[in-house]
Amino acid sequence: MIIYLIGFMGVGKTTVGTKLAEDMGYEFVDTDEMIESKEGLIINEIFEQKGEDYFRKLETDTIKELVNKDNIVVSCGGGIIKNKTNVQLMKESGRVILLESPAEVIYERVKDTDNRPLLKGRNNIDGIRSLIEERQPLYNMAFTDRVNADAKPANVVAKIKELL
Ligand code: S3P
Repeated sequence: MIIYLIGFMGVGKTTVGTKLAEDMGYEFVDTDEMIESKEGLIINEIFEQKGEDYFRKLETDTIKELVNKDNIVVSCGGGIIKNKTNVQLMKESGRVILLESPAEVIYERVKDTDNRPLLKGRNNIDGIRSLIEERQPLYNMAFTDRVNADAKPANVVAKIKELL
């Protein structure tokens, strides 16, 4: 099985995904990390030097590389749902679990970071809330199950395992 974790930036996909993979004896990958190592650049640099559209193409390439794998947990970049092809590929090849937390909780997790280009200029509760609202229809179309991620990672992992 492939388990794709989707959700807004800072919702805890990587932390939860690492634990879930460990628990299940699955491999763990993170699409952002795969992209960074392929490009030899960090996400901020890719956005600055090559732009968002280029980054989105890399996300699609990355998903295409993963669809034939098995026993793997994939932590996806928060904007992976912006591309319909990605959503289709993920739904066809695995379970897509949406992690959700309120904007206030997300803000506490991202407020001291500067590694997310799309939070520049809106790294505050209102900015985060409006981007979540803008994306909500896309997340809603993508998930096969949704989980409240506003809990300890171990509890979120337990909830996901119940669903599977
Ligand atoms: C993005 C989320 C980031 C990263 C990039 C764009 C987004 O991943 O892919 O900065 O558009 O939501 P995380 O969700 O892991 O922070």
